[in-house]
Amino acid sequence: MDRIVITGGRPLKGCVRIGGAKNAALPIMASCLLGGGDCVIGNVPRVRDVATMNALLSLLGVSVRMEGTQLILNASAVTQTAAPYELVKTMRASVLVLGPLLARFGEAEVSLPGGCAIGTRPVNLHLKGLAALGADIRLEYGYIRARAPRLRGGCIDFDLPTVTGTENLMMAACLAKGTTVIRNAAREPEIVDLARFLTKRGARIYGAGTDTITIEGVERLHGAEHRVIPDRIEAGTYLMAGAITGGEVHVRECEALHLGTVLSKLREVGVEIREEPQAVTAVGPRRLQAVEVKTLAYPGFPTDLQAQIMAVMCLANGTSVVTETIFDARFLHVPELQRMGACIEVESASAVIRGVASLTGAPVMASDLRASAGLVLAGLAAQGQTEISRVYHLDRGYEQLEEKLSSLGGDVRRVAGAA
Ligand code: EPZ
Repeated sequence: MDRIVITGGRPLKGCVRIGGAKNAALPIMASCLLGGGDCVIGNVPRVRDVATMNALLSLLGVSVRMEGTQLILNASAVTQTAAPYELVKTMRASVLVLGPLLARFGEAEVSLPGGCAIGTRPVNLHLKGLAALGADIRLEYGYIRARAPRLRGGCIDFDLPTVTGTENLMMAACLAKGTTVIRNAAREPEIVDLARFLTKRGARIYGAGTDTITIEGVERLHGAEHRVIPDRIEAGTYLMAGAITGGEVHVRECEALHLGTVLSKLREVGVEIREEPQAVTAVGPRRLQAVEVKTLAYPGFPTDLQAQIMAVMCLANGTSVVTETIFDARFLHVPELQRMGACIEVESASAVIRGVASLTGAPVMASDLRASAGLVLAGLAAQGQTEISRVYHLDRGYEQLEEKLSSLGGDVRRVAGAA
């Protein structure tokens, strides 16, 4: 397994281009199953999760091809409606094929995703929503077996705003007979991007980005072209790299609008933030200030930047509190940060971080995609060398991470590990 070796202590300076949002690309790719015709998708990031989704779609019979930087998917010849455990267990977002398969083919068999490093992550709300649209849902031998000759429009009240749950139901409702209303829907920009793409293909969706989404079912969807929005989590990660190293990082081709709460929190930390419509610059202060952070559903502070802001707080002046309200076990980066000299106490859903003058490099282990990003940030600021193992977690969501950090002056290299 490859490792990333970082020699820290250098302020990062320069400009990085932000890639397409992984969590917008994945549902948009899955939605190709809803109809025939070419789905031509631009700005798709070259990350492991996208490769996994392409493998799953190919297995189902979708034609998958790259033409230059455009991903072209065509689901006219889909023959399979079963997503196997071997693939689903490597990426939970595989559950996003459930809604489209059921809506278009009247049946779907998708492995239950199982737990993961950041929590139990059930899909009960996805299933409850599909049942509200008339689907017969059975759980057998670790698989979701869904049947519905024709989904019918209905009312779905989510107990809590689930991102992929909202996406799955929005896709399924596109081909249902009648109108569907989703209340307490998630409001992430990735959901708005999916709705935009579906609308281009003939869907009738209103209210995406708010907590109530109305979908008028149609008979069929055709193909369309689309360019995926920039990845707000990647952008936030590089801005925090500038902050934690006391450097100056300019991220371009990003949507400042999607980073609202993150930018205001970084300003609280003492980071100078300069905003332009498609770019943001972060200038790290000489001393970072301790703050309180609570992760919330969009537009609140994103849970996918929790590990990264915690790394920044390890070097802040004073005591910070980071509270994780979205997942029940998203603190696996804490013991690894402690190995680097961080002073952190976890008390149920909150981590109390007492800022220290410096961190020291150490061998650490990545546990999930965003935790490993937090360890990279800590390594960039630490004195000495940090070696991060299991970097396949990072490769799931960060394209050319070491190249981008090196272009900013970071001493970051990938060491190929034994198989
Ligand atoms: C999406 O996961 C993202 N993944 C996650 O990003 C992100 O952390 C998460 O949303 C929260 O923003 C993709 O978009 C592919 P949820 P998702 O359903 O949809 C509970 C990354 O690093 N819940 O919004 O799986 C759940 O346990 C990944 O890119 C139920 O109880 O998250 C959690 O506590 C990590 N029942 C909360 O809701 C359900 O049926 C929010 O989860 C569904 C969810």
